[in-house]
Amino acid sequence: MIPFRPHRYAAAAALLLALSRGLPACGGRTDDAPESGSAVCPPLPEPVYTEPWRPWFHFTPETNWMNDPNGLVFFRGEYHLFYQHQPEIPFFGPMHWGHAVSRDLVRWQPLPVALAPDPVGGQAYSGSGVVDRWNTSGLCRGAPGEAASCLAFLFTRHGGADGTEKQDLAVSNDAGRTLEPYAHNPVLPNPGGRDFRDPKVFWHEPTGRWVMVLAAGDRVRFFASQDLLEWTWLSDFGPAGTEPGVWECPDLFELPVDGLPGETRWVLKVDFNPGIVIGDSGAQFFVGWFDGARFLTEQVETRRVDFGADFYAAQSWSDTPQGRRIWIAWMNNWRYALFTPTAPWRGAMTVPREVRLSKQGEEIVLVQRPAPELDMLRHCLLFRAAGPLEIHGEADLSDRAAGETLEIRAVLDVRRARRTGLRVGVNPDREEATEIAYDTERETLSMDRGRSGTFFSERFSGLHEAPLALEDNLLDLHILVDRSSVEVFAAGGRVVMTDLVFPAPESRGVALFTEGGPAVVHALEIHSLGHIW
Ligand code: FRU
Repeated sequence: MIPFRPHRYAAAAALLLALSRGLPACGGRTDDAPESGSAVCPPLPEPVYTEPWRPWFHFTPETNWMNDPNGLVFFRGEYHLFYQHQPEIPFFGPMHWGHAVSRDLVRWQPLPVALAPDPVGGQAYSGSGVVDRWNTSGLCRGAPGEAASCLAFLFTRHGGADGTEKQDLAVSNDAGRTLEPYAHNPVLPNPGGRDFRDPKVFWHEPTGRWVMVLAAGDRVRFFASQDLLEWTWLSDFGPAGTEPGVWECPDLFELPVDGLPGETRWVLKVDFNPGIVIGDSGAQFFVGWFDGARFLTEQVETRRVDFGADFYAAQSWSDTPQGRRIWIAWMNNWRYALFTPTAPWRGAMTVPREVRLSKQGEEIVLVQRPAPELDMLRHCLLFRAAGPLEIHGEADLSDRAAGETLEIRAVLDVRRARRTGLRVGVNPDREEATEIAYDTERETLSMDRGRSGTFFSERFSGLHEAPLALEDNLLDLHILVDRSSVEVFAAGGRVVMTDLVFPAPESRGVALFTEGGPAVVHALEIHSLGHIW
């Protein structure tokens, strides 16, 4: 049988027995669940990267520094992921654009550096990419007999000869392999002011023109263009919300609202960065309307995109098939990004997430889910239970469901417990675990990485919390554990938390727990995940 500590875990034993009866072994067999020890999983192919904490299914650069995703565009079957990169040192420095492509949003092929600092213009800071489908710029070269279309990238040049921030254009006529700077850059000079960066561009169909939104201190600014070359100012939005700091990396898009047939809303996402010493950087969003010139909203409060510490500078892909809205973020926080204890690389992306709007009660909420393409990473079903099963105290599942990379999906009835949830990265010998807990009285979901492993800086805060009122007291959790991160999608993706963690390699266990009363497991499924390289 599954070993457990009988005196402490008497009630858990009953659960484990029940769970193990419903447990299929790996490789699709359901009739010969192993009697003891872990489920038998076929070995994974050797990973290409073996350094401690190297993520297995999150994008990282092979070496050195990475921050924001840039130039996200889908073109001819490829998702392009450019990113802020310092290719020579594992620190923020003169910024370049790194580059990778993927056909499935899961496995990435690294490509050479795409943009470098320019002595006149300055560093290559963040920006976006679009398909110039009708050659509005006149810079696309079609193959003979083919309509000209190309990739266009609008990005910030920072510093340079005049020390300012301004927007440059580069195009690619070879599917993103070479980015050719426009001869008359900048296309949008600095109007005065220090912060003027991170342009996100999209085609606005009703007005038949390009729109650019960029960050300028405590506000975002909108500009329009017919040809991507000449831009005119439309309006500003902000200051707004309650988070301190400089705004960075805006994104703006329209989505249908699930539950409001025929209606759409616009989402303006913008990050706030109080600076490295003062506080945590993060992402907020506003739901409203964009009329082609102005962004309007009735929202006054700040709404967090992700309640963990490590989700920043998200950008959505342009030109995706079927109009899917998928974004990816830098999984880090400016508060401590320069010190995260990894080598020879520093910086990882979150998983790509599908973004939707949904009407829930009186509110329109943002819903994020891991892109379904990630399902292909499931390597082995370690654990499956079909409830209802009651737990008291702690149910340590580590003998069945341990791993460095895991996907956990659970539905728990929390009504009789005071606190209940899951621990991942569990290692009783080192007293390590990352705890995901729901507090029934306070109606909050929290992630506690205070005992997750290496705690490299006082700035690396331990506990993160989100308000979460449950329907019918049912807590559904979708958790992705990689070798140095935990992403939690709760309540169907309505509340999301992303945290970096740096556990010891042997801290791999999983446990359910409850305090102040029993909780009921309605469903639980745990997969080990493969790697993407
Ligand atoms: C956000 C940011 C952007 C800037 C880039 C520089 O993380 O500060 O505003 O363009 O990083 O790397």
